[in-house]
Amino acid sequence: MLDKLAIKGGEPVRKKPFPKWPIFDEREMEALREVLYSGVWGIGGTKKKEFEEKFAAYQNAKYGVAVTNGTAALEIALRAAGIGAGDEVIMPAYTFMATAVAALYVGALPVFVDIEPDTCNINPEKVEEAITDRTRAIIPVHIGGRPVDMDSITKIADERDLVVIEDACQAWGAEWRSRRVGAIGDLGAFSFQSSKNITSGEGGIIVTNDEDLYMKCWSYHNCGRTLKGEWYHHVIPGANYRITEFQAAILLVQLERLDEQTERRNENARYLTNKLSEIEGIETLSQDSRITRHAYHLYIFKYIPEEFNNIPKERFVEALRAEGIPCSPGYVPLYRERFMLNLREDKLMQKLYGEKVDYSRVSLPVTEDICYRRGIWLPQYVLLGTKEDMDDIVKAITKIKESSKELAD
Ligand SMILES: Cc1ncc(COP(=O)(O)O)c(C=O)c1O
Repeated sequence: MLDKLAIKGGEPVRKKPFPKWPIFDEREMEALREVLYSGVWGIGGTKKKEFEEKFAAYQNAKYGVAVTNGTAALEIALRAAGIGAGDEVIMPAYTFMATAVAALYVGALPVFVDIEPDTCNINPEKVEEAITDRTRAIIPVHIGGRPVDMDSITKIADERDLVVIEDACQAWGAEWRSRRVGAIGDLGAFSFQSSKNITSGEGGIIVTNDEDLYMKCWSYHNCGRTLKGEWYHHVIPGANYRITEFQAAILLVQLERLDEQTERRNENARYLTNKLSEIEGIETLSQDSRITRHAYHLYIFKYIPEEFNNIPKERFVEALRAEGIPCSPGYVPLYRERFMLNLREDKLMQKLYGEKVDYSRVSLPVTEDICYRRGIWLPQYVLLGTKEDMDDIVKAITKIKESSKELAD
């Protein structure tokens, strides 16, 4: 007799919660207390600068500018690189909306290209095909913390004189051929929002190896001031994107835990990949020896509905959640989001880009297949558990597979 599915009223495979996120202890408390009693909560403090230096070094970059969030980091990176109205920026549509919004905020046009089915990352061949006279930048997104093929992206960018801004908002500490992501391209943006693997509730940082770009980012994030200039001397129309000393203090402590937690996520991910690849109907993403370190913000796997009695992905996700496994069906292709479709009514965008602002014309088969049919995510904190926790994930999926006929009825 098969065990009754939890979604049909049976006992869930798992009743215990997975590790709670965020993880903190007395060290965060002490760091916050220190800032509180110092009376210096913002500008003039030492924590922001210390964090910028430590995090930039952590990503093998020379410079860092900590800002309010990852979206602002992308926007400032684009501005610093001189991207603006009339420019096209190539990016995947399998990403958080902020990647596209950052381009729109500077007046540039997001140009979406398809992803690779076995990595869910931007497909370099499609990048090449999408380049026009107006292309100025590429934003590779290291989705779920998996590094993009940066060899191919860098080659294309060098040949065509394009700027590379890495959206590393999910990829702290990730490595492509032993180089940490973020400053492999010209600039990189990271997020420290609540769900992220290192967090201060909200926050972000831009990293770069280019001194000139660093100075520009610094100026944009600090009301157009210059590093050595007077307080009321504003040379560019920057704004206030600074983080507080409280955020920087928390991030400094969180950074101390990041390596150990990343190792644990990688170890559990390896174990899970081995087990999941034994289930017919589940496909894991490709293994690539050039990825020397994955950040695993998300564990992404592919669900094959045909092997599960054609149960739609959304129903499978509901059933898996009912068994006690946190999971998500993930993104909608960005060009199908209302805010992108509405751009065709925008007079200024129409004037600048003509029919290219009509995103209803865009269709990317691999992105759509992953979004609507196959892609499923497990959140990062799930990977902070034990091997037994991973076994529960496998057990829950196997249970659903065995009872997929019951679920299809
Ligand atoms: C891929 C990606 N890009 C950009 C962002 C934007 O970061 P934030 O939410 O800190 O603005 C996020 C995070 O939410 C993200 O996951």
